[in-house]
Amino acid sequence: MTEKYNWREYYEHHKNREPREELTQLLDVMRRERGSFEDMSALEIGAGNMIETKALLDAGFGHVTATDITDLAENMAASLQMDVNDFANDVERLEFLKVSHEELPDHLQAESLDLVVAYLSLQFVNPEGFQRLWQSLVQAVKPGGRITLDLIGDHDGWAKETLADESVRYKDMNFHSREEVERLLAGFEQVQVIEDDSDGKTSDGVAKHWHIFHIQAQKPTDA
Ligand SMILES: C[S@@+](CC[C@H](N)C(=O)[O-])C[C@H]1O[C@@H](n2cnc3c(N)ncnc32)[C@H](O)[C@@H]1O
Repeated sequence: MTEKYNWREYYEHHKNREPREELTQLLDVMRRERGSFEDMSALEIGAGNMIETKALLDAGFGHVTATDITDLAENMAASLQMDVNDFANDVERLEFLKVSHEELPDHLQAESLDLVVAYLSLQFVNPEGFQRLWQSLVQAVKPGGRITLDLIGDHDGWAKETLADESVRYKDMNFHSREEVERLLAGFEQVQVIEDDSDGKTSDGVAKHWHIFHIQAQKPTDA
């Protein structure tokens, strides 16, 4: 699916931005609760140019796994690994998996993650692949662990184009109604869903209707 999108332009456009505010705010909350991230593991899915992955490493996470399918992301991860991994002592703070969303469930272990981050990426898998990925993610979060991610809504311009013409490239994506989002989050607590349903632009300046659910949630400690 990579060849359908020009990720180079997207990465170029985003290269100097700050880490997303929803992540930095959540890290502040977690830091107040837990003190240090040293013993914690995080996963960023579809990490792109690694801005949020770097924020997790800077915050002090003991282990961060970043996934993506592009060579560019792999190269950026390799240079970040040179900074944070202690190769002499076999200490791997950053692990990069060049795996697709479809393949990721095979790499996830139950109750292994304190935090899952996935901004503007989980939509790039077909609905069946998404359901499998979601189930494996829910299982991979530790009791008390958190998720911070976006899902794309069914009013989104891409969803409308997909419905109108099955042959368009967006048919490999998944879209969700508000009710579906609530169902997906049924096993979580401290759920926060901010719904953005508004006209805007893509990062390359094309007009587009966006329908995004910005989600944060925590798995119950007794899950
Ligand atoms: C819109 S970018 C978002 C990047 C980053 N998370 C951010 O917020 O800037 C989507 C990312 O998902 C990756 N991606 C797209 N489809 C994928 C798939 N099926 N499996 C894994 N990664 C995928 C792309 O390579 C790209 O880096």
